[in-house]
Amino acid sequence: TERTLVLIKPDGVQRGLTGEILRRIEAKAYVIAQLTKSDAAPDQLAAHYAEHEGKPFYQPLVDFMLSGPIVAAVVEGNDVIKGFRSLAGQTDPTTAAPGTIRGDLGRDWGEKVQKNLVHGSDSVESAEREISIWFG
Ligand code: GTP
Ligand code: MG
Repeated sequence: TERTLVLIKPDGVQRGLTGEILRRIEAKAYVIAQLTKSDAAPDQLAAHYAEHEGKPFYQPLVDFMLSGPIVAAVVEGNDVIKGFRSLAGQTDPTTAAPGTIRGDLGRDWGEKVQKNLVHGSDSVESAEREISIWFG
């Protein structure tokens, strides 16, 4: 089995979509092994998004992630890293396919940051690194 780090970003929590997003994960029969709600700390975000430092969307992204509480989850299942990214859909919610979290629930709000509801780790190495950032 494999595990991934899922974040429900501030837009998802603020819009009351936590239950809907967790429902989709459970409906797919993945296992929610750990779950917490908290305000992200700046040092956690700096570590989490280190690969994007210097990009034009970096600071808007960090500010957005600090704008309200987030939900972090460790989700388990066979091939769950790829599987959750498939559930989430493409990064840009405008073009994410219907049937996905971002495609069904997200859209462009005319802001500098893509408010796309969720994060999912993109590799085994990222998942282990990110789980240690959010769950110690
Ligand atoms: P995550 O699961 O959140 O990591 O999304 P991702 O893997 O689909 O995207 P990526 O890691 O490349 O980027 C992280 C986040 O930065 C995205 O989820 C977006 O919120 C934001 N982002 C990425 N690329 C762009 C971009 O080209 N423009 C803007 N405005 N935001 C972006
Ligand atoms: Mg990413």
